[in-house]
Amino acid sequence: MRKFLTVLLVGVFFFAGALWAKENALEIFSWWTGGGEEEGLMALFDLFHKYYPDVKIINAAVAGGAGTNAKAVLKTRMLGGNPPDSFQVHAGMELIDTYVIPGMMEPVTWILKDMNALDKFPKAILDMCSYKGEVYSIPVNVHRANVVFYNKKIAAQIGMEQPPQTWHGFVEYLKRAKEKGYVGLALGDKNKWTALHLFESLMLAELGPDAYNGLWKGKTSFNNTAIKRALEIMKEMLDYINSDHAAMTWQDAVRLVYEGKALATVMGDWAEGYLKTLGWTPGVEFGWFALPGTQDAFMVVSDTFGLPKGAPHRQNAIRWLKLIASREAQDVFNPIKGSIPARLDADKSKYDVYLRWSMNDFATKKLTPSIIHGSAAPESFSAALMDAIDEFVTTRDVDKTFKKILMIAEDNDYNVK
Ligand code: GAL
Repeated sequence: MRKFLTVLLVGVFFFAGALWAKENALEIFSWWTGGGEEEGLMALFDLFHKYYPDVKIINAAVAGGAGTNAKAVLKTRMLGGNPPDSFQVHAGMELIDTYVIPGMMEPVTWILKDMNALDKFPKAILDMCSYKGEVYSIPVNVHRANVVFYNKKIAAQIGMEQPPQTWHGFVEYLKRAKEKGYVGLALGDKNKWTALHLFESLMLAELGPDAYNGLWKGKTSFNNTAIKRALEIMKEMLDYINSDHAAMTWQDAVRLVYEGKALATVMGDWAEGYLKTLGWTPGVEFGWFALPGTQDAFMVVSDTFGLPKGAPHRQNAIRWLKLIASREAQDVFNPIKGSIPARLDADKSKYDVYLRWSMNDFATKKLTPSIIHGSAAPESFSAALMDAIDEFVTTRDVDKTFKKILMIAEDNDYNVK
């Protein structure tokens, strides 16, 4: 009887699976679930529906973001042979190391060739999406990670007329904000990645872009006083964060700035998208600057979508990929998302003053891949570093954390000489 029931159940599952695959659907996985990000995704879905009104879009978004539950859910699905039709994945190691090398992805070079679009994307970004001569995902945007967003009203009250050029200058303003009863630096590390988000930019500030990039090629040693200094600066910054940071998401931290409770937050420019959906205008209520010390660099975070092998609705997945590769879709999505288009031929008039600043910096500054946003290093490294920095927020023990970083680097075969 038991055996019969099992056979029956398996049969039902297969039948449901077959029906599901036959359905004219498109399942898209991402971690864009709210706070400015969902709006961008919905704009892409609307555009897709304009061209393919009969396709049922299944939004399989899972909240959390980099290094959290969302990625674990995706990985389990991929490993279990239950892929979505297409999914958000960062250009770089997150794509290549996690999914391409293990053989789970189809190349998509032909899609870009068909569209005559291979030369419409920056080479640096396409290289990050490529392995052994094939492109494996379509970049929809480029975010910048090393940005400070601040409340202009509070800045005026504390005399921050110009963006600070150095850490000392920045800390001085955080101090003044605190003295006036504000939070200096808003942090929301309920999802642990935000602490490493801050730290990796501090590493960039202290190492400089060339040495930072050298870490991933074995040219720069992790056994580096600049990394220790980055920890020391972070320790200093932590004196000015909100006490409830561990209960907050990055959106909650941005809201502290928006509500006039905090001077600034260090966040990728998805925060710009969020502030705009809250009703603020860049340059009016909020200002921004590259993190002091990182003015010459652009910490790259590029969201891309790939084609998993065995996508249940492959034809619709290809339609989706073609759509997001188009100039039209990129110009609809990015002004909302707070990112610049990955395509080089975008219509600049559609982008606000912040995004034009970012476009200009992207074209002229040194590009550096983000660790926590999946580009620079494999997940084994970024996940371990994320835990170490998360712990550091509590312990604030520079020596112990530095030793741990060296161990993690060594475990991942990076240079620690
Ligand atoms: C990043 C992603 C961005 C944004 C952010 C916060 O990893 O690239 O698009 O979604 O997380 O959720």
